[in-house]
Amino acid sequence: MENVATLILGAGAAGMMCAAQTGPDTLVIDHAKAPGEKIRISGGGRCNFTNLDIRPERFLGENPHFHKSALARYTQWDFIEAVSRHGIAWHEKTLGQLFCDDSAKQIIAMLRAEMGGAELALRTRLVDLTHDGDFVATLEHPGGRRVVRAHRLVVATGGKSIPKMGATGLAYDIARRFGHRVTDTRPALVPLTFPDGRFGAIAGVSAPATVRAGDTAFDEGMLFTHRGISGPAVLQASSYWREGAALEIDLLPGTDLAAHLAEGRRSAGKRALVTELARLLPQRLVELLASEIDLTGRLGDLSDTRIAALAATLGGWELRPTGSEGYRTAEVTLGGVATDGLSSKTMESKHVPGLYFIGEAVDVTGWLGGYNFQWAWSSGWAAGQAI
Ligand code: FDA
Repeated sequence: MENVATLILGAGAAGMMCAAQTGPDTLVIDHAKAPGEKIRISGGGRCNFTNLDIRPERFLGENPHFHKSALARYTQWDFIEAVSRHGIAWHEKTLGQLFCDDSAKQIIAMLRAEMGGAELALRTRLVDLTHDGDFVATLEHPGGRRVVRAHRLVVATGGKSIPKMGATGLAYDIARRFGHRVTDTRPALVPLTFPDGRFGAIAGVSAPATVRAGDTAFDEGMLFTHRGISGPAVLQASSYWREGAALEIDLLPGTDLAAHLAEGRRSAGKRALVTELARLLPQRLVELLASEIDLTGRLGDLSDTRIAALAATLGGWELRPTGSEGYRTAEVTLGGVATDGLSSKTMESKHVPGLYFIGEAVDVTGWLGGYNFQWAWSSGWAAGQAI
């Protein structure tokens, strides 16, 4: 039996950040063959590692206040300072989203360096866990088994998104076993689907749009796919959408379509309505819309009533997705280990001293745009500091 002060399950974003604080008497295990695989593929290989405009209201979870403390104590500025200290060049892409100039692998190398003397055991999985005040973990790796007695156990195995990359529900199983509640989980930041290939003909077409789910609206790009809709505005809205509900889409954000058509009626009365709309929207999208709503006739023939109706329809296009692409492609998992059982300052269990949950495993989910990594850094740091 080996003894370590701290055993961390999961060498992803949160686990590595935590290990960087806990010092050399730490063992980090992961069943993957490399640490930080999601960091590596994130942001198209450049990792959108944080956002300049981190705000608590841009995170979802049962308790809208839980994440405030950790995010305030280890901020985006702290992570930016670390990135800069490691000589990693970065840039803001859009909406405060920060990316590496070169490669996401630099972020993994930085975290690996910050972990110092902590041991990283890859291709290693937990096969048994008992608790007698300490945590006794039986681990299996290609070379055999090892049994480790740890004073503290940090669960950083993430959520269920992308099982192909090794995502498992281990964190939820451990949480339940130690008397924690786990809130309902569902895929988030995920493309939404329609049953009948409704948008197959315009797959690949994108346009700026305001996509609203309930009270929350996102003003970003929207993309049509063979199976449904995607793009940043839709991914964002997917976190707020529920089965059976409709999304409301403004296809012409910032354009007063009624005023525009009234002006066209005066100055270009002979122009076909579809021709005018194709000046504002992608041609193929207009063709699809024309197959669903009446876009016949010329601008000069439009009545005030019809102009108002067109403006209302294109400004509030109602789409009712039937589902989502699921965990196969979801960027994150909404829900997770209930925050009422954790300390918001340290992420430690209120039921079992020495047990911590961090990162995506916890019921805190951020917007698209660097928010989820910032939660992983902040929660990992909070637990690591407390340990
Ligand atoms: P994470 O998933 O990173 O790490 C968990 C670790 O635990 C993994 O290494 C896994 O192998 C290991 N593990 C799981 N089960 C195990 C088991 N049973 N035994 C042993 N090990 C186990 N966010 C963002 O802010 N900006 C971005 O650009 C992106 N981009 C992005 C792209 C894609 C394709 C995805 C899927 C996700 C993103 N995200 C993102 C989200 C971001 O990747 C995510 O929120 C963090 O990685 C969560 O960090 P964690 O450390 O909690 O889990």
